Amino acid sequence: MSNNPNGALHQKEYGHLINGAWVAGDSGKTIDLLNPFNGEKLSQIAAGNSKDVNAAVDAASNAFPEWSQSSPNQRQEILFEIARRLKVRLNDYAMLETLNNGKPLRESLHFDIPQAINQFELFAGAAFHLHGQSFDYPDAIGLVHREPIGVCAQIIPWNVPMIMMACKIAPALAAGNTIVMKPAETVCLSVMEFFREMSDIIPPGVVNIISGYGPDVGETLITHPDVRKVAFTGSIPTAQKVMQYASKNIIPQTLELGGKSAQIVCDDADIDAAVEGATMSTVLNKGEVCLAGSRLFLHETIQDEFLEKFKTALENIRLGDPSDIATQMGPQASVMQRDKVCSYLELGAEEGASILTGGQRASGVGLDDGNFIQPTIFTNVTNDMRIAQEEIFGPVTCVIPWKEDDDVMRLANESNYGLAGGVWTTNLARAHKISRSMQTGTVWINRYYNLKSAMPLGGYKQSGFGREFCFDVLNHYTITKSVVINLQEGAMGMYDQ
Ligand code: NAI
Ligand code: MG
Repeated sequence: MSNNPNGALHQKEYGHLINGAWVAGDSGKTIDLLNPFNGEKLSQIAAGNSKDVNAAVDAASNAFPEWSQSSPNQRQEILFEIARRLKVRLNDYAMLETLNNGKPLRESLHFDIPQAINQFELFAGAAFHLHGQSFDYPDAIGLVHREPIGVCAQIIPWNVPMIMMACKIAPALAAGNTIVMKPAETVCLSVMEFFREMSDIIPPGVVNIISGYGPDVGETLITHPDVRKVAFTGSIPTAQKVMQYASKNIIPQTLELGGKSAQIVCDDADIDAAVEGATMSTVLNKGEVCLAGSRLFLHETIQDEFLEKFKTALENIRLGDPSDIATQMGPQASVMQRDKVCSYLELGAEEGASILTGGQRASGVGLDDGNFIQPTIFTNVTNDMRIAQEEIFGPVTCVIPWKEDDDVMRLANESNYGLAGGVWTTNLARAHKISRSMQTGTVWINRYYNLKSAMPLGGYKQSGFGREFCFDVLNHYTITKSVVINLQEGAMGMYDQ
């Protein structure tokens, strides 16, 4: 049951949020939000266009002067109030994430929504720490002010909408910026309901939401002369467009673009713990996770034992209705994503890899109307195959055997991506050596997905640039101004005056 005072878990329809009001889109066109478990329509959103975008940017521009001058107390209070309300409706937001995305309720309850709350609490604390610096010279005082940057465009994906919304909104607001956010067209029910609930505490125009298809709104938004920064999470082809748009007015970007992260299991690893890590990495959010450790490098001496246990673990995963708390893996978030994963299952076979388990759409009671894929292990994989190089974004792990530490360190880095990684060994010196050799933004030793509050998250290479989830991100949402105060009186005497 919903604990929303209005009674409804969500609305039947959402417009755009512009200047504190929910308004219909200019085109009148809408997009259905679906439940990927049964294909049923949950709600509908407006399909935005340039006119909607321009209105939202105008609202954000108009709100900026006052918001940028707001006190840290006010910003802190708003961020804490958001966190408090998220806790009050934790079950609702978890259910909304599950209904529209297909992720198991046990994950949205214990991972997604708590992580989102954490972002608001973290940056509520940061509002007071955006102070500048001072420098002392014999003849001058230097002051460095840290100022908000202005109107920020934020474009988020469909795999973890609440976490993506929170990790972008919270620091931008803490720093005194105003925002135009574009959520993903397939999955954004939780985000729309969140802003519906919060629109009484966020001042009008400070956060504006334009829904719709990326190509219809992206270029107008990012090239708008009043937009001063863009933050994007999604695919590489879209990021390349975002960068082109951003080049028009030379605005800074932060980009987080997925990965094909290596998990390296050494011969001295705790096998059971590593099998659990590989299982979680395969099935968590049905593999639709940018951080997934989907290239699994197994030392050849432990490979047989590991694969036997790994296969059993994946075959025991409970697929089903994601809103059932017992379900361990749900359907892919959209038909498009399901078809993409299936195309990689076919490609793996063509490239000569073997399927140890899975490899097909999952069927059976309760599964036939959903976008389910069997958890899959590919063996006989070489690191140069496309299934080992490209992001599949599904419950599919590629296993690559190795013998020498030097070889696995080289192979792990033979990737265009570098977002995360894992090392499994009981030898601390070896763990340290391997983790330092990895060209990647985060390495988890002996526990995968061990996300720790306030630690930077972001990519090397084509996984993008800029760091989020940490205080460094505040540097992306502020700009410095150096002011030099001369302490010497009178003219310098350089010219005959
Ligand atoms: P996408 O990159 O196209 O979509 C992400 C966001 O960008 C969505 O809000 C979308 O509407 C928007 N967008 C699309 N075209 C745009 C444009 N021209 N200008 C501005 N915004 C635009 O990702 P898509 O197509 O949904 O998924 C494809 C693949 O991307 C996935 O299979 C996965 O491999 C990867 N991906 C990675 C994510 C990550 O967390 N890094 C998240 C989502 C997808
Ligand atoms: Mg796309």
